[in-house]
Amino acid sequence: MVRGKLIVFEGVDGTGKSTQVGLLKHYLEEQGREVVTSFEPTHGEWGRRVRAAAASGQRLEVHKEVEYLLRDRREHVQQVILPALTEGKWVLLDRYYPSMMAYQGATGEDVEEIRRLNETFAPVPDMAIWLDIPVQEALKRAQNRGRERDAFEQVNFLQAVARIYAAMDMPWWRRIPAGGGVMETQALIRREIVTCL
Ligand code: TYD
Repeated sequence: MVRGKLIVFEGVDGTGKSTQVGLLKHYLEEQGREVVTSFEPTHGEWGRRVRAAAASGQRLEVHKEVEYLLRDRREHVQQVILPALTEGKWVLLDRYYPSMMAYQGATGEDVEEIRRLNETFAPVPDMAIWLDIPVQEALKRAQNRGRERDAFEQVNFLQAVARIYAAMDMPWWRRIPAGGGVMETQALIRREIVTCL
């Protein structure tokens, strides 16, 4: 049976992941592919709890964060990701388990252990696109969107997150410099994606 492709987007807050997901979806659909887009944390019960805490300025204790985000991802994998892949669709995700390696890793959890836990149930991506821009620049962009900063969006913390992203060496991990214009970044992404077609 044909299995679709799983492409995930990663990067600190404000790197333009959702814009790039939308543009790539359009491109793939023009090529006649069926595409499903989604994001994590989801708007399900467990994802909502993590977002609500961060929005209030006070993150959950890291073990609770890991527990809730794993529950959220399990539901997402079962209800959305695996069914779409089985139907041969492309699945584009705005964040997936590398976010947990980076964010909960930067909060003191063991990065490789987090990866191992996730890979017991979550399909390994065909490709992860890491949108890399300096943290200060990303935070400026996030602020320009007029959103309140949540408890994840602190400079020192995001710099630790970015260092973990920079050290990732999975064979499916790709760094894309994302400091230029939107279409310039999209062109770099498409150049990587054609190797999956
Ligand atoms: P984000 O994609 O920034 O959502 P929004 O822009 O709608 O607020 O996700 C919210 C936060 O969740 C983000 O700062 C990173 C964090 N996060 C983790 O800490 N671990 C995870 O496993 C995931 C998926 C997200």
